[in-house]
Amino acid sequence: MLQNLLDVVTSPLFFVGVAAVVASVVVFDRLSNKPKDTKEKKPTATEEPVDYSNQTIPEKTFSLEELQKYKGSKPNEPVYVGVDGIVFDVSSKRDVYGASESYGLFAGTDGTRALAKSSLNPEDLKPFGSKEGLTEKQLKTLVDWGVYYKKRYPAVGKLTY
Ligand code: HEM
Repeated sequence: MLQNLLDVVTSPLFFVGVAAVVASVVVFDRLSNKPKDTKEKKPTATEEPVDYSNQTIPEKTFSLEELQKYKGSKPNEPVYVGVDGIVFDVSSKRDVYGASESYGLFAGTDGTRALAKSSLNPEDLKPFGSKEGLTEKQLKTLVDWGVYYKKRYPAVGKLTY
């Protein structure tokens, strides 16, 4: 009886059988895992953010009044910010531009002057869009902000007064 069992276990046919079972299990496992693997390879938030630096500014124009409609008050409404004459869509960062968030003062308005002055005081937004009385350093700061926004956000138009 034991001898019979040993004969079976050591027979080439038995090894072929075992190999076939193992191969089937491996193949089945791979196939059934495939959708999971594909999902894991999809683009994720860890990828490089889009660089919009070379974008062309659309010809569309916004008055300050029109711009004020874009504060993103409702979740599906876009958030726009005016920076040195250009209007950017900052909706991708509504977590910082939301009404009660750190940079909410810039939402739906012209941030030019406050950005130049590195100020978060809403009074420093005024006179909107004016560069009057700004120092060389503040003007340079404003240029840097312009580059920052142009790189990170799609422009939607120009500001007119
Ligand atoms: C203690 C002072 C401050 C700290 C610690 C701070 C911190 C930060 C941080 C960490 C970010 C990056 C946010 C992100 O990319 O998610 C940021 C962005 C920014 N900060 Fe400040 N900040 C300070 C003061 C100011 C002031 C005074 C201004 C006034 C102009 C300012 C304007 C901005 C703006 C406009 C952005 C860009 C937001 C964006 O579009 O990503 N910050 N700040």
